[in-house]
Amino acid sequence: MYSEKVMDHFQNPRNVGEIEHASGVGTVGNAKCGDIMRIYLDIDDKTGIINDVKFKTFGCGAAVATSSMATELVKGKTVQQALEVTNRAVLEALDGLPAQKIHCSMLAEEAIQAALWDYAEKHNIKIEGLEKPKTDIGEHEEEETEY
Ligand code: FES
Repeated sequence: MYSEKVMDHFQNPRNVGEIEHASGVGTVGNAKCGDIMRIYLDIDDKTGIINDVKFKTFGCGAAVATSSMATELVKGKTVQQALEVTNRAVLEALDGLPAQKIHCSMLAEEAIQAALWDYAEKHNIKIEGLEKPKTDIGEHEEEETEY
């Protein structure tokens, strides 16, 4: 049911963790299952290159695998190139997912976009072609729901 690549990234996820003083942090929620994904980006201000990226999730195996692959795909890229790391690109790199798991893969793309949005806001810049993901739940709102 799952490709070898999906199993590999699920069992040995790359770039799990967090980045202190990250350039941008994005947190998104999946409306279908309620799972959450957070991505941290370390971006070089001068070159716009993503030096490092980490993720944390309360998500299923497919969400872990897609986020792991997505972080691998954006690392070392420029902000503009990172926008091209779409859900579709991640799925292709993983040799696909079962249809009922496609919604899980959206978390990775949206969390990256949310982190880029956060970066742009903090630096007062506009990233061409970037829109704030609708599923962006931000850090503040999440804090309010913590007990
Ligand atoms: Fe929630 Fe997969 S079931 S992200």
